[in-house]
Amino acid sequence: MAKVKTIGILTSGGDAPGMNAAIRAVVRKAISNGVAVKGIKKGYQGLLNEEIMDMDARSVSDTIQRGGTILGTARCMEFMTEEGQAKGAQICKKYGIEGIVVIGGDGSYKGAQALSRHGINTIGLPGTIDLDIACTDYTIGFDTAVNTAMEAIDKVRDTSSSHERCSIIEVMGRNAGYIALWCGVANGAEDILLPEKYDFNEQAIINNIIKNRKRGKTHHLIINAEGIGHSTSMARRIEAATGIETRATILGYMQRGGSPTCKDRYYASIMGAYAADILCAGSTNRVVAYRGGRFVDFDIEEALAMQKDIPEYEYQVSKCLAI
Ligand code: ADP
Ligand code: F6P
Repeated sequence: MAKVKTIGILTSGGDAPGMNAAIRAVVRKAISNGVAVKGIKKGYQGLLNEEIMDMDARSVSDTIQRGGTILGTARCMEFMTEEGQAKGAQICKKYGIEGIVVIGGDGSYKGAQALSRHGINTIGLPGTIDLDIACTDYTIGFDTAVNTAMEAIDKVRDTSSSHERCSIIEVMGRNAGYIALWCGVANGAEDILLPEKYDFNEQAIINNIIKNRKRGKTHHLIINAEGIGHSTSMARRIEAATGIETRATILGYMQRGGSPTCKDRYYASIMGAYAADILCAGSTNRVVAYRGGRFVDFDIEEALAMQKDIPEYEYQVSKCLAI
């Protein structure tokens, strides 16, 4: 027997491919558990604006393969305030929403924590392309984003080789270097610049480019993380120092869109169902994670206190494969 009659669902922060698979799983698993579902549009902003609609099994038809989020998403400053959070909880009560699944990153979890303090049960799902949530080895959207970026980088590599150029390709990730690390290894980059590791020694990159040219390499691919940025000015300085034509490409928002990969659809589906199950069973203030090969859940406080860093061995390997 479910402990709640009605739950809500919202997506918050940056969108990520696979969010729709998670929404679909939450809606359908809750309905299977005999619980009604309301969709909240545009994150916490939509909650405060009362953009709330009933959802049934058909509301999520034909969505598993679509990028973005059918609910829309937003960043909401008002929800950072105590008044905003109390108002959000009041609105939930008005609509009979006893629990909410929040799909987003660490910031969105803090909003969920606040709702939980105000008596609304909450479960977080890790939705971000950045993979920067410490409690989980997987986040919804990362797999699609790195595959999209990898394909784009392969294309830049073709033209870079033809022209014997050096290419700096900037990938997203906010302050985290996971997208850069994965693409750097998967695309065989000569240099991979991660915010967690970069020492701003541009001369070392310049020396590497000159050394590789002497070894007969026709291109030099540098994957630069958004957290370091400044790819265009870096390209100008490298060209001036090496005499080798250097171009910067900033991949940008294309990394956040597109049809989710099988992995993102599968993991998002299982995590969405898991979130619906524990919310229907009366849990609150928890986040669902994938850790050590299993789907698990943590207290939000505990999850937010966890730390994660670029795995040292993987980083060391990434530095020696492109010799
Ligand atoms: P992400 O969830 O991807 O980390 P943000 O950090 O932008 O993205 O957070 C998304 C939204 O979550 C914010 O716009 C805000 O509405 C809410 N939020 C973020 N931090 C807090 C906080 N400390 N308290 C309450 N709500 C928060
Ligand atoms: O968190 C996902 C992400 O795409 C980051 O990689 C990037 O730094 C940020 O969102 C961009 O946010 P916005 O959509 O507000 O420009």
